[in-house]
Amino acid sequence: MTTSQGLRDALADRLRASGDLEDPAWMHAAQGVPREVFVSDGFMRPLPGTHPTLYEAVKPTDEGWLEGVYEDVTLITQLDGHVSAFDLVEPTAGDPTSSSTLPSLVLRMWHQLGVTGGQRVLEIGTGTGYSTALGCHRLGDANITSVEVDPDNAERAAGALKGLGYAPRLLVGDGLDARLIDGSYDALIATCAVRYIPYGWLDQITVGGTVLVTLGGWMGGYGLVKLTVTGRGCATGRFLPGTTELMIARPHGRPPRPPLVLLSGQGKGSRFSPALLDGWTARWVAQLAVPNAERLGGGVHQVLSDVGTGSLAYSNDRVDDDGNPLVTQRGPIPLWDRVSEALIQWQEAGTPHQSGFGITITPKSQTVWLGDEAGPSWRLPV
Ligand SMILES: C[S@@+](CC[C@H](N)C(=O)[O-])C[C@H]1O[C@@H](n2cnc3c(N)ncnc32)[C@H](O)[C@@H]1O
Repeated sequence: MTTSQGLRDALADRLRASGDLEDPAWMHAAQGVPREVFVSDGFMRPLPGTHPTLYEAVKPTDEGWLEGVYEDVTLITQLDGHVSAFDLVEPTAGDPTSSSTLPSLVLRMWHQLGVTGGQRVLEIGTGTGYSTALGCHRLGDANITSVEVDPDNAERAAGALKGLGYAPRLLVGDGLDARLIDGSYDALIATCAVRYIPYGWLDQITVGGTVLVTLGGWMGGYGLVKLTVTGRGCATGRFLPGTTELMIARPHGRPPRPPLVLLSGQGKGSRFSPALLDGWTARWVAQLAVPNAERLGGGVHQVLSDVGTGSLAYSNDRVDDDGNPLVTQRGPIPLWDRVSEALIQWQEAGTPHQSGFGITITPKSQTVWLGDEAGPSWRLPV
């Protein structure tokens, strides 16, 4: 018979074999924390090949439930801020707003945070509570504070943690708000992404302390950065290897907008294929160049829309007389020109991964740079 312990051990073995889990202490945490307790209301699985993605409910009474819980995948537990697996009677579309993040990523991030027992950690995004439990198991629950913005998620996570005997400090509210998270911590780990570093975070972390967070944006570019706090409102750090993609913190989500209308325009030949933006790092670089733009589409059919000014850039399969893809730009910000400039700088540097970039934060600005502080740089939209 398949047991929870057997599946946990097998997951830990797989993560060790793949190189995702090297630290024996975090391996012990992976083996010790039962993930099913944190998704006991079920989760939602994307149906392959559906556009927009449809989700089906997977419930504890379903055959293969426990095996599904121990796959190294993100288990979505909430859509659109209120729909849970419990509510789904048929496959349904929606935006994922809470989940149990895939174990390999959660464990890698805890390991990368580099904290040891006795250090006080603030986690942003309790979600189901699974990652919180891993932290409690390894570091001791007296050292963990975790914040969740959604009261329903927070209540479920609190119940699951308590049921397993963990008693971290749990806060409910906006983890980007310094008034809520007020305290003194040695490190901060965020399991939701932000568009820029909230200054309130830096005030709560001791000088020399660490912030591990994914910087994301509305174009779907992400980079995991490890920052050292160097003074009041100041920090510096480098982006880390790998691919880390997390849901954007609620206050940093794209504001609502009316449906987009692609008005016709002349079009200008581009030296880059718009399909380049489907690439992991190219998209990140493009996002740095136009940080208030949203990206829709894919392949040669890209649409960039600046949320602040309504500026647009879009492409289709048209090419100019020289065979260059045509990109139409409208509005006050020439989005594609800016993206192209950044892509040229990136190509000239040899197309490095995000780990070739770093960030410097001062009380006045947040700047991502390529190579070193003297290299090409872009301001985050603080
Ligand atoms: C990817 S899930 C977290 C996964 C979680 N750590 C786990 O292992 O289950 C991200 C969570 O961040 C929460 N969140 C989003 N914005 C937040 C904010 N401003 N403050 C606190 N939590 C936030 C979401 O509600 C969601 O539950």
